[in-house]
Formats: sequence, C-alpha cells, structure tokens
Amino acid sequence: MPNVDSIWNAIAKLPQPTLRELFDQDADRVTRFADTLDIGGNAILFDWSKTHLDQDLVGLFSQLAEAMDFASAREALLTGGIVNPSEGRAAEHLAQRGTGAPASVEEAAALHLRMRLLTEAVHEGAMGPVKHLIHIGIGGSALGPALAIDALARSTAEFRPLVDVHVVSNIDGNALEAAFEVCDPAATIIAIASKTFTTIETMTNAGSAVEWLQEAGVEDAFGRVVALTASPDKAVEWGVDETRVLPFAESVGGRYSLWSSIGFPVAMALGYEGFAAMLDGAAAVDRHFAQSEPADNLPLRAAFADLLYTQVHECQSRAVFAYDERLALFPDYLQQLEMESNGKRVAADGAALDRPTAPVTWGGTGTDAQHAVFQLLHQGTVEVPVDFIAVKQPGHDLDPAHQRILLTNCFAQGAALMAGKQSADPARRYPGNRPSATILCDALTPGTLGALIAFHEHRTFCNAVLLGINPFDQFGVELGKQIAKEMESGTGGSFDPSTQALLEKSGLTT
Ligand code: F6P
Repeated sequence: MPNVDSIWNAIAKLPQPTLRELFDQDADRVTRFADTLDIGGNAILFDWSKTHLDQDLVGLFSQLAEAMDFASAREALLTGGIVNPSEGRAAEHLAQRGTGAPASVEEAAALHLRMRLLTEAVHEGAMGPVKHLIHIGIGGSALGPALAIDALARSTAEFRPLVDVHVVSNIDGNALEAAFEVCDPAATIIAIASKTFTTIETMTNAGSAVEWLQEAGVEDAFGRVVALTASPDKAVEWGVDETRVLPFAESVGGRYSLWSSIGFPVAMALGYEGFAAMLDGAAAVDRHFAQSEPADNLPLRAAFADLLYTQVHECQSRAVFAYDERLALFPDYLQQLEMESNGKRVAADGAALDRPTAPVTWGGTGTDAQHAVFQLLHQGTVEVPVDFIAVKQPGHDLDPAHQRILLTNCFAQGAALMAGKQSADPARRYPGNRPSATILCDALTPGTLGALIAFHEHRTFCNAVLLGINPFDQFGVELGKQIAKEMESGTGGSFDPSTQALLEKSGLTT
C-alpha cells in the first residue's frame, strides 16, 4: 500500500478533465455518481455527477481511506471506541438512534423512555396548560432543535404543532424578549438545554425566563422548567426538580446532541413519534454508512469530493443552498457541524498539519440566494463547490407553479454552473466547469430530515478521518469565552490597547 503522501501526490497529478469532458467520457456517469437511499418509503437522491470525481479519483481516494485506516476509525465510531483522543472520549450519537455500541444503545433507550414519558405527561397536562415552549440553549443545544422545528413543525392546513416552540440562543436580550412577546406566561414552559449547564448565555437567558414567569404571577415558576443536560446534578442545584431533568450521556457531543434529550422540543411539537421517526431516518443512514464499501459509501464519496476541492482545487469555501423554505436553517446547522468539527490546524496526534482542513461552510435559500450571491458563483474569480438540497413534494397547498419554478431554478443553477456560456462580450461570458452536488428528497418528513443530518455528520467524520484530525473536540471556542469572563468579572487586568479602548468607550470599564 503506497503511503499517504504518495497517494496525495498521485491525486494532485491526475489530469483534470472539465465536467463536460467527464460526461463525454463516461456515458454512465449519472448512474455511477447518483445514488438513492430509501428512508421509510421516501427516496433521497444523492447526485454527485456534476462534481469532478471520476473512477481514477475514487480509486485513489479509496486508497487514501485505506492508508488512513478508515475502516478502524468507522468501527470505533460504531462501537463506542475512543474517537476523541484529546478528551479521551467516545462519540456516541449513533447509540441514540440504536446503531452504536450495545451497552450505550441500552442506556440511550432508557433515557429516551424517560423523555417520552415526560413528553406525554406534559401533553396530558402534568405541568398545567402548555401552549408555548421556550427552548433556551446555544450552539449544538439550539441549532438542531431550531432546524427540526422550523422544518417539521410549521402550521399548515393539515398540520398544527402540538406546542408552539421558540428557540432562543443569543445572549442579546432582544432574542428572549421576542419570544416573551408572543408567549402567554400562564401557558408557557421553559426548556433549558445545555450539555454542561454552565454556558453563560444559556444560564443568563434561563434566569431571565424564570424571572419573566415570576413577574407575570406564575406561582411555581421553577415548576414550569425542564432541563436537558449531561450534567443533571448542576440542573438540580440550579433549581430544576429532578423529575423534570432529562439527562443524556457525556459521550454525546454538543453538535451531535439533537438525538438525545436535546430533541425534547421536537417531541413536544411533533409528538414523541415524530422525534422517534427522526432517529429512525438517521439510523437508516448509519446502516448504509456502516455497511457500504468505500466506492459506494455516500458520505465517504461526498468527502472525496470535498477533499478534492479543498486540497487540489484549493477552494476555501463550500456553499449550501436549500431550495425549500422549510430547510432555511440547514446551512446554519451545517456551519457548526462542519466548522466546529473540522476547523482544526493540528492532527489528532497533535502534529501540525501541512494541508488545509475544513473550508468555510456558508449558504442560504433558493431562489432568494440567486438574486444575491449567485453572481459570484457564476462569474467570480474563486471556485466554490455548491450543494443544492431540494424536496419534490411541496410543504404548501398553493398553485403547483410555485414548486415547479422552485425546482426548475434549482436544477437550472447546477446546469448553468457546469455548462457556462460563451459570449463575444467578456462581461457576459460564463466560464462554467463549476461543480455542484444535488440532494433531492421525495418528501420532507422527520425520517428524511434525520437522514439528511446523519449523512452530513458522517460526511464530516469522513473528512476528518481522511485528514487525520479529531472532529469531536472544539478547544478553539474557549479562549474568547475565557477573556469575556475576565472582562465581565473585572479580573483580567488590562488588555491590549485596542481592546482596552473599546471597553472604555462602551463604558464597561474606566
Ligand atoms: O462554544 C461551543 C460549545 O461548547 C458547543 O460545542 C456547544 O454546542 C455549545 O457550546 C453549547 O454548550 P452547552 O450545551 O454545554 O451549553
């Protein structure tokens, strides 16, 4: 087996045919690079045919996977091995959906049962009238619930969420006040979501939410609070009754925690069955990921393309456009998943890396983004690989023209990026040969959303394994937090002159 450097050299030295040439060379390209997964009767198509992957590249990247011992890394993820060496931990989000290590699956099932019983009890009135739920958390404790609620719990002619959920993350009081404006305190419960139960934004917002209930005359304000956490003792110490603490395992990472009790607001809005269907959809992708050979493994194939673009084409960003309003928060979700996981500069063993790691993930919704940022994608000087995510079945009852126009625009953008256009006028010329991948779901259901998220989790993991980095720690977020704490408490002494001046000008210090 050639060593890692020689495989990378071989990848870099391969000829680089254009997308058009790749289609001309291989009549079966679409069948070869577009595959479907069945998620509870709904298909999801993963079409990577408009990327520059070809058989030679897949062969070399498969060799790279072997040289990086991808099989052992995947096995460790699936069996609860230590995949987060800097913190000496497993990453057990798969156990939440029943596909991880048996002992952890059992523990997760017991905690899910506790969550289910509390969800059902609250629906039946155990906490008094509940029309609204304010879910307070940040980062991984907010982005997943926010995405799932926005995608699946919208009121439509056929569907009314069981509870109206507001996800509040920002410490800026405007965020919490906006939720207070639309919630009736007498019919509101508060979910405090924090793995550590120490995060300053969450704890400050939680305190203000309890005060809001008290000021509105709610008798037992703490009786209206549920805690979702891996630190149950801290939640009890804070004042949450033990019976309303929904714990989850320490080995579930923050940005992978939607599958744990952090999903409580999803269960409250959809009913527990809806949340369980998300777990099932994710589990279907876990099985595909666990069982497929490298060349057919969809998250791994996506990582091959990601690495081709960051390492060989030197792309510094990847854009994701959801051509479905219900998935508007998907790019935000992916930003944390990908950038907090793989935005690293050292390998898992601490050695400095000599190649780029995660690109910047950014994006938006189609067709809005077409009228804002697509100019650069088509004619700018940088190459940005694009992912399109679309859903065949619309989530509304309006004239089918809406959906037709939405989908044709999505497909037209991919076609235009690839084909480009010649023109005598340089300003009107499109270079083309710009890559995109398209994910097309039959329908947006709890199962397909769970599958979409799990696919991206595994894609992120594959990128990390092939680069040799640890995707499960995030020390890079600590320094700024620590300095803010020192500023807040006045214990930091003096800062650099620029920062000191800002503190003085804003009246925070003299
Ligand atoms: O600041 C980073 C981070 O640790 C994320 O990884 C995490 O999702 C978020 O903060 C929130 O942490 P917690 O759930 O402990 O409040």
